[in-house]
Amino acid sequence: MTQALDEIKIGGLGARRKRVEDHRFIRGKGNYTDDITLPGMLHMEILRSPLAHARIKSIDASKAWEIPGVHLVLTGDMMATRNLAWMPTLSYDTQAVLATDKVRFQGQEVACVIADDPYIAKDACEAIDVEYEPLPVIVNPKQAVAPGAPVIRDDKENQLDNVIYDWEVGDAAGTDRAFGQADTISRLQLHYPRSHPSPIECCGSIADFNRATEKLTVYMTTQAPHIIRAAVALVAELPEHMIRIISPDIGGGFGNKVPVYPGYVCSILASILLERPVKWIEDKSGNLISTGFARDIYLDGEMALRRDGKILGVRMRCDADHGAFFSDAQPSKFKIGLLHSAFAAYDIPVAHLAARGTYSNKAPGGVAYRCSFRVTEAMFFQERMVQAAADDLGMDQAAFRRMNFVRDEDFPHRTPFGFLLDSGQYGKCLEVGLNAVGYQDFRRQQQEARANGRLLGIGISTMTEPLGAGNSREYDILGIKMFDSADLKVHMTGKAIVRTGARGQGQGHETTWAQIVSHELGIPAEDVTVEEGDTDTAPFGMGTYASRSTPVAGAAVAMVSRKIRAKARRLAAHLLEVSEEDVEWELGRFYVRSAPERGVTIQECAMAAYSNMPDGMEPGLENTAYYDPPNLTWPFAVYIVTVEVDPQTGVWDVLNMVAVDDCGIRINPMIVEGQIMGGLTEAYAMANMQFITFDAEGNCVGSNYMDYLLPSAWETPGFELHSEVVTPCPHHPIGAKGIGECAAVGGPAAFVNAVLDALKGTGVRNIDMPLLPDRVWEAITYRRDISGEPPVHADD
Ligand code: CDP
Repeated sequence: MTQALDEIKIGGLGARRKRVEDHRFIRGKGNYTDDITLPGMLHMEILRSPLAHARIKSIDASKAWEIPGVHLVLTGDMMATRNLAWMPTLSYDTQAVLATDKVRFQGQEVACVIADDPYIAKDACEAIDVEYEPLPVIVNPKQAVAPGAPVIRDDKENQLDNVIYDWEVGDAAGTDRAFGQADTISRLQLHYPRSHPSPIECCGSIADFNRATEKLTVYMTTQAPHIIRAAVALVAELPEHMIRIISPDIGGGFGNKVPVYPGYVCSILASILLERPVKWIEDKSGNLISTGFARDIYLDGEMALRRDGKILGVRMRCDADHGAFFSDAQPSKFKIGLLHSAFAAYDIPVAHLAARGTYSNKAPGGVAYRCSFRVTEAMFFQERMVQAAADDLGMDQAAFRRMNFVRDEDFPHRTPFGFLLDSGQYGKCLEVGLNAVGYQDFRRQQQEARANGRLLGIGISTMTEPLGAGNSREYDILGIKMFDSADLKVHMTGKAIVRTGARGQGQGHETTWAQIVSHELGIPAEDVTVEEGDTDTAPFGMGTYASRSTPVAGAAVAMVSRKIRAKARRLAAHLLEVSEEDVEWELGRFYVRSAPERGVTIQECAMAAYSNMPDGMEPGLENTAYYDPPNLTWPFAVYIVTVEVDPQTGVWDVLNMVAVDDCGIRINPMIVEGQIMGGLTEAYAMANMQFITFDAEGNCVGSNYMDYLLPSAWETPGFELHSEVVTPCPHHPIGAKGIGECAAVGGPAAFVNAVLDALKGTGVRNIDMPLLPDRVWEAITYRRDISGEPPVHADD
């Protein structure tokens, strides 16, 4: 009890410690890539293709070269002479850096100009004359596999069609048998539309090659600096130790800043050629049309059901539209990421998933936008399918879920797709959510409202997400195994610095990693500095995405603290003049077992490490830990939304939203709540207002903030958060599970389910996101499903 109170006081585990990074962020004192100015720095702008698919007949850059202030014009042909026209992607495909033969999506990078300032560079881009020969355009998987479809990737020798992969997992024959025994088969088809992470800060880099030292320093907006260093070493053929990647403050990543983009490569080459620093800062339009697209997947599934509601099996087919290059940044050996985590929380005996990936004339997609590699699509489909199945059976939504959940006593549970879930209390989370929202009462109100022509709806969504890639046995990026790291140095006065291989983008690592050190060592959190993002100083790590930081880097922080504690124990024994076995630990202090009043603090041990160590002991108090998690962590959540839909306009309003998240032990409950609120806000935006698609010519429609709306506090509903259910992760050193993405993953289905629940009885089974008022109105008025699938024709 005393220890727990002390721990909260010093900012340890469970303390609602205010975010230390906010001291600089809310004062406008953050240091973002665009804030950095180096002596002699030049500026780079990119010329992008206006067409989605066209052969390049010629590029004439002579006028651009003549503009005063222009230092370099890079084209694909020039890149090709250095073997840099194409680069490898993280999914073992290739991606054009600057187009040579064809352009394959609107917004593709065609040329770059490096000039004294960005305005000259932009003007010079416009002076480049590119002659295109338009080609037929493909904007969805159906067109991609149609007979006679133009082959988009004719640059690849053996690529005779537009199919990237045909992949399957699960037990096809067993699933067929389950369907043979079903009383009812429920079916649902939907499209999870493209979406864009759209961080406030766009992508950018400043490459600074110093000929005198032969060292390349790149400041850039990357969520994974060490991976970029490895990629630059391979692409630029520079020795890895002469490359330093620095990720300064990042204005939001959400997956957008994981891949390698052509802008990074061109700024590096330009700096090497010009021997001056070259800055590239993407503008908003460039960001929205060319980098970081996510989702875009067609899902078609069936559920075999027993009359009493038991799920007997699930069959899923999906078509994923990857755009022009297969550049998903995902570390699994599974072609479609972790899509087969679908239905993991449900006790389903058998399942099968067939996935096909195709090219299209769209910007590369497949970024894990606040998501563990297609888990968002998986959970969305799961919860939409579960609602449809319950409705088909005439069963209550909540009862259907309760009946089919994996029960507490059944952990560890192996899913039919092979994942191992280690812990959870799914039924309890659901009960907390149902009570909070007043489920039975709402159902009564709903009946009464319906009798008066009002449409009320309630939507439930649950999610369990595999967070924390690796382990290294199963997950790697280009062969580099997934693990993470922490390096802790305790200075002689007991202050400390911890560095990790992760790279936060606003999640609060500077606050929470210090809390873990505090929990393990009793050093007040305010005495611990956290540093990430510099490959010259941080230990090698795989970066931050997929909510992997706490499960992996956070675990490494705990483990390195324990190594420090082990050495401090030896120092304490020396100071107390007893044997190590006689030394006990309590938070922040070692004491003699037989005489508890005789003790030394961790700070005294730190001083001894530099001034009074025992003979033969290596001086200093620092260490490094690499952590390879034994399994993913599996947080669980229940999100319940109530809405009222206006049948005259299709506008829907959220009445109430309840979120019950079980992410195991919460390091900082306030930060966790912030993560959940942020995720729910994004979920609401995806479900309600974010529209970005492509017309038949491949023009990106909605690539502006008039159509692709970022919700402000004005539109965003209030959320009621619950933290009563805590199931510690059995294999994480402090019992924590990831949380960053959960609400964005599980949230969208709750909103869509609520609107469809309001429309129950009209025969409407599906409206694709975003549930814009006109779509909802059309569904109500014509009593039909609304597919949001592209193409939107130019004359619509
Ligand atoms: O990888 P990323 O940082 O995006 O996601 P995360 O590991 O889920 O962590 C998001 C933020 O919530 C970090 O500041 C974590 O330390 C914090 N967190 C926490 O306080 N307790 C947890 N159980 C999980 C995360």
